[in-house]
Amino acid sequence: MPQAQRPQPDALERITEALDALQCGASVVDRSGKMVFINRRLAKMYGRPREQMIGRHIAEMYSDEQVRQQLGRMLEHFDDEVEGEFIIERADGSHLPIATAARPLRDDGAGLDLRIVTMIDVTRLKEMSDEVNRLNDMVIAQALDLKRHSEVLEQKVRERTAELREANMASIYMLAVASEARDEDTGAHVRRLQRYAQAVAERMGLPATEAEEIGYSAILHDVGKIHVPDAVLKKPGKLTDTEREQMQRHTVIGEAIIADDAFFAMSRQIARHHHENWDGSGYPDGLTGDTIELPARIVHVVDVFDALVSPRVYKDPWPPDRAIDAIRHGAGTQFDPAVVEAFVALCKAGEIKRIADELA
Ligand SMILES: [Fe+2]
Repeated sequence: MPQAQRPQPDALERITEALDALQCGASVVDRSGKMVFINRRLAKMYGRPREQMIGRHIAEMYSDEQVRQQLGRMLEHFDDEVEGEFIIERADGSHLPIATAARPLRDDGAGLDLRIVTMIDVTRLKEMSDEVNRLNDMVIAQALDLKRHSEVLEQKVRERTAELREANMASIYMLAVASEARDEDTGAHVRRLQRYAQAVAERMGLPATEAEEIGYSAILHDVGKIHVPDAVLKKPGKLTDTEREQMQRHTVIGEAIIADDAFFAMSRQIARHHHENWDGSGYPDGLTGDTIELPARIVHVVDVFDALVSPRVYKDPWPPDRAIDAIRHGAGTQFDPAVVEAFVALCKAGEIKRIADELA
């Protein structure tokens, strides 16, 4: 063999000294698979004295035939750089998971035909990864449990909210009907108002939930009439100034009667301001334009319309067309023109008549 092809002891020695200083396992293997060098760390990982390993074929360290074949295949790629995972079979028969990297040992001029293999014990990493997976599974299971639990709770809350809302609505109707019955024959007026107001709000482009709120908040608009004497409420003729003042007080009384909480906030606005006029000539505050809350401006229009087409002690019902003309005529003075426009459009579309017929 030419001199250049023989391993130079100096070169190998330098390498093995360096390998011994490594914190990971390392071995040097020749092309036949014989272990030329084992560092201290790797001997410890195998659980054997390195003297017992150096000079032996790497496959001799393994009892499993499949592993031996695998090692044989690896040796066929002697000149390639490879990385992977592997299991070391230790002297006591236990196994050690490792991450391995191997590459040909090139040392210019030294003629080394060897391969250096490093091995890192990944037992702890495996354990950590198993633990992380276990925790992950546990967290996922808990999250699913929590989700199921919260869905059940949400459903219960939805049911309870619906029940409370039903109860609230029933109370509102009862109160409205109780106050209404004194100058109306039935509570139909408030039910029509609810639907008209909701329809106008929707027509004006308000979100469905807001339109619905305007609808149910309209129901109590005249609840303050409960405090107006019958003699005034049912007087067929013209009211005196004092009587008119008494009648007009149903707005502020209504606001005072309605509970001061969020659910009724809009009802209170409507009760107080549903007789305010766009041009400031209304009562009780003489507000103008859009300083009057939109729900109150809507209720003002539909309330007057419904009063006009209904019989009263002092007048016969007006035909709808005449009432619509009167509403249109009041746009910009008594009513918000935008509300009138939406209301008239609903009338033309037959929507107001449809609601009235449905509730008749
Ligand atoms: Fe009123």
